[in-house]
Amino acid sequence: MSDAQPERYLVMGATGAQGGAVLRRLTALGRTAVGISRGAASGAAGSSVASRAVDLADRAGLCRAFEGVTRVAASLPLVYEAEVAAGYAANLVHAARETGVRRLVFNTNLPVPPAPTGYPAFETRRLAEEALMASGLPVTVLRPPLYLDNLFGPGHAPALVNDGVLAFPLPESLPVSWMSLEDMAAATVAALEGADELVGGALRVGGAEAVTGPRLAAVFEEVLGREVRFHSMDPHDFEAAVSAVLGPELGAGIAGGYHWARAAADDSSFTADPDSVEKHLGIRLTPLRQWIAAQPWNQWAHSGS
Ligand SMILES: NC(=O)c1ccc[n+]([C@@H]2O[C@H](COP(=O)([O-])OP(=O)(O)OC[C@H]3O[C@@H](n4cnc5c(N)ncnc54)[C@H](OP(=O)(O)O)[C@@H]3O)[C@@H](O)[C@H]2O)c1
Repeated sequence: MSDAQPERYLVMGATGAQGGAVLRRLTALGRTAVGISRGAASGAAGSSVASRAVDLADRAGLCRAFEGVTRVAASLPLVYEAEVAAGYAANLVHAARETGVRRLVFNTNLPVPPAPTGYPAFETRRLAEEALMASGLPVTVLRPPLYLDNLFGPGHAPALVNDGVLAFPLPESLPVSWMSLEDMAAATVAALEGADELVGGALRVGGAEAVTGPRLAAVFEEVLGREVRFHSMDPHDFEAAVSAVLGPELGAGIAGGYHWARAAADDSSFTADPDSVEKHLGIRLTPLRQWIAAQPWNQWAHSGS
């Protein structure tokens, strides 16, 4: 590949929340970008570009989608079977090698705790991260904590808005560097375009503040101007609620991270040093208050909780 080759970005999971945010940021910056997901979509996730239909299981299809691509924002979808995740990672490595990408940023979707946990939510990401790091490709790994945007979703926002209850399946005392999807997209693009020193590194990223559940509720209380209390949900109840919507396999996969958080001695995996994130990536993280104030919470008023 010559340096004269025009830059062309590819975003995986482009119709999903995380990939969509990256695609919107890239197009807002005027970059030439294409999104991929299994279903083709025009204007993927509110961006102005189309998403091409490619299944990560289809190696040849993935190679075709990678033609002419120079930078890749990679992530895995909701998949918790080790073999499937390993297959997707192997196909990604193969397609990226064939194309000769200049930079690949892998979003692990969740933290990757330092020692094996036994939970597929973390271990499928660990195995993909290791495959990418061992590939010789110019890879940067970003490990986010939890997204603030979860709290604006149907599983959490109605109770917050209508009952003043911030319910989440985490221990009260666990600090979390809640991060917005927009900040994660900014971090991803910064890593895609940043200094070569970022290559080969795995960076824990997060939002502007690390807070416990009750502290987060207190910030909501200040901004929304109403009483808000934190409720530490039992991860089993959370799993049952998710399973009722997505089925038991995905329910168990998603809830696994919360079962681990409840039992683990490690209380640092869900945090990241904001100064270090800003310094390494050259971005400004959004203060919690600012993010909360910017969401149209009234949309959830009286919609049932
Ligand atoms: N840290 C956090 O707070 C947080 C929050 C949410 C999710 N997550 C994690 O992020 C991961 C993704 O979840 P998500 O909710 O973001 O998923 P999502 O919104 O459903 O997005 C997944 C994206 O990948 C695409 N996709 C799915 N299977 C694919 C395949 N085989 N080949 C190609 N594209 C495929 C989907 O589109 P198609 O269906 O059209 O293919 C979609 O664009 C999960 O591990 C989840 O646990 C973390």
